[in-house]
Amino acid sequence: MKHHIAIMVGSQREGSKNQLLSQAIQSEFASGFTMAPVNGMTDLPLYSQDLEAEGIPDLVQVMASQVRQADGLIIISPEYNYSVPGPLKNQIDWMSRVDDQPFEDKPISLMSASPSRLGGIRMQMHLRDIFVALGGRLVNRPEVAVAFVRDRISVDGQIQHEKTSDIIKSHLKDFKSLIETVA
Ligand code: FNR
Repeated sequence: MKHHIAIMVGSQREGSKNQLLSQAIQSEFASGFTMAPVNGMTDLPLYSQDLEAEGIPDLVQVMASQVRQADGLIIISPEYNYSVPGPLKNQIDWMSRVDDQPFEDKPISLMSASPSRLGGIRMQMHLRDIFVALGGRLVNRPEVAVAFVRDRISVDGQIQHEKTSDIIKSHLKDFKSLIETVA
């Protein structure tokens, strides 16, 4: 049976390297999974408790149910100033406020891509802390942090670096096992 995976991407800009990584994951590495992106991150208002008191936006409820219904979640994001980009943190904060918040016990895979030599790994460490708060179950090793991304993923979303492909395969194998353990 194929596991269904929701994918959240922390950059929606034109030409985003993390969007390219997301495309590569969906086209080259999806065997054994069905995958669908969770869209709309940049359409969300900035979270405030006052706004929440007026009602949680329908878009947040849709995002939460997409993640709740999935067997697992992959988050693919750039690192901004050693941490999680604001729009992605905003999305997670909103989604954490729905009844039966969708991250509890959810198998979660973290990935990042960056032109720098650390590949966004410091951002992943901050996401790990956030999911301690929210009860997510994270894949540990190997970490998918694609460094020097301009050389390793082509502009049409092909992985051009064998070691990176191997790490992604190994990480997704562990992700699949985690999903089967949690189910
Ligand atoms: C960055 N970038 C960056 N890269 C990194 O490896 N560590 C960092 O701390 C930062 N900080 C940072 C802050 C801000 C505000 C911006 C705009 C960028 C560079 C970043 O990795 C690069 O622009 C990526 O290409 C962004 O990801 P997408 O949009 O291509 O997916």
